[in-house]
Amino acid sequence: MNNPRPSAKSAGENKPLVLITGASQGIGEAIAQVFARELPGVRLALVARSEAKLAGVAQACGGAGAEADVFGCDVTDAGSVARMAEVVTQRFGLPDVLINNAGGFVPKKFAQTTVEDFDAMVAVNLRSAFLVTHAFLPALLKRGSGDVFFMSSIAGLAAYPASAAYTAAKFGVTGLAKALRAETRDAGLRVCCVHPGATWSPSWSGSGVAPERIMPTEDVAQAFYDVYRMSRRTVVEEIVLRPRLGDI
Ligand SMILES: NC(=O)c1ccc[n+]([C@@H]2O[C@H](COP(=O)([O-])OP(=O)(O)OC[C@H]3O[C@@H](n4cnc5c(N)ncnc54)[C@H](OP(=O)(O)O)[C@@H]3O)[C@@H](O)[C@H]2O)c1
Repeated sequence: MNNPRPSAKSAGENKPLVLITGASQGIGEAIAQVFARELPGVRLALVARSEAKLAGVAQACGGAGAEADVFGCDVTDAGSVARMAEVVTQRFGLPDVLINNAGGFVPKKFAQTTVEDFDAMVAVNLRSAFLVTHAFLPALLKRGSGDVFFMSSIAGLAAYPASAAYTAAKFGVTGLAKALRAETRDAGLRVCCVHPGATWSPSWSGSGVAPERIMPTEDVAQAFYDVYRMSRRTVVEEIVLRPRLGDI
């Protein structure tokens, strides 16, 4: 039976190219490290604003056998994203795996959320995912293959206190993923939306929450790789990951 799994050879002679936004720290950094470890020789396009931090991640991934390069980009800015997509394509070609991970969270109640707060939350979590996907989509459709991941949250499935703008943005991410999947199912793309609960990235440092109440970044990162490795006859459409002890 023809049931191929994506592998280190899935992009023909080239190793797969995995583009990760928000790869300079936290979950994005962990995703880069998992792909580097699991797919020796994988090519990694690491995207964020801080090129210095990305360089450290690239070095670590290179030590694990990946071919990693850094691409400084503000994913909320259409011009910056267009330039990044052009440079990535020139350097590496078209991504086999596109991971829209960049995001941010500032806790605020609805009444305390300014217009600027709201726009910033939507820009970094939702507009960014639209811009980056949109930049590569025509070429992905032309090629007829690729995996596109969206980083939503449990706040993209249900409402939590003091996170009105973040919740609205992440519900938007969930919807964006569903819309893309509905449109591209027959075009060879697989679209997965990931909904983690609390995950131990730098954003939780100093929170005072006990580490055992929060998932390690490695576990969330491993889920991306496991979804990628699923036979190409199957798409994992959505996954929800929670600390075993429940929400905080
Ligand atoms: N940690 C959690 O508990 C949790 C739970 C559910 C969902 N998530 C989601 O998971 C994703 C990663 O979260 P995290 O906790 O790992 O976050 P984090 O530690 O704050 O890292 C955020 C990443 O996004 C990048 N980024 C932020 N603004 C950017 C911009 N304008 N342009 C380009 N890159 C930008 C940052 O790099 P630069 O600053 O260098 O640009 C960094 O690499 C986010 O989408 C978040 O909403 C996190």
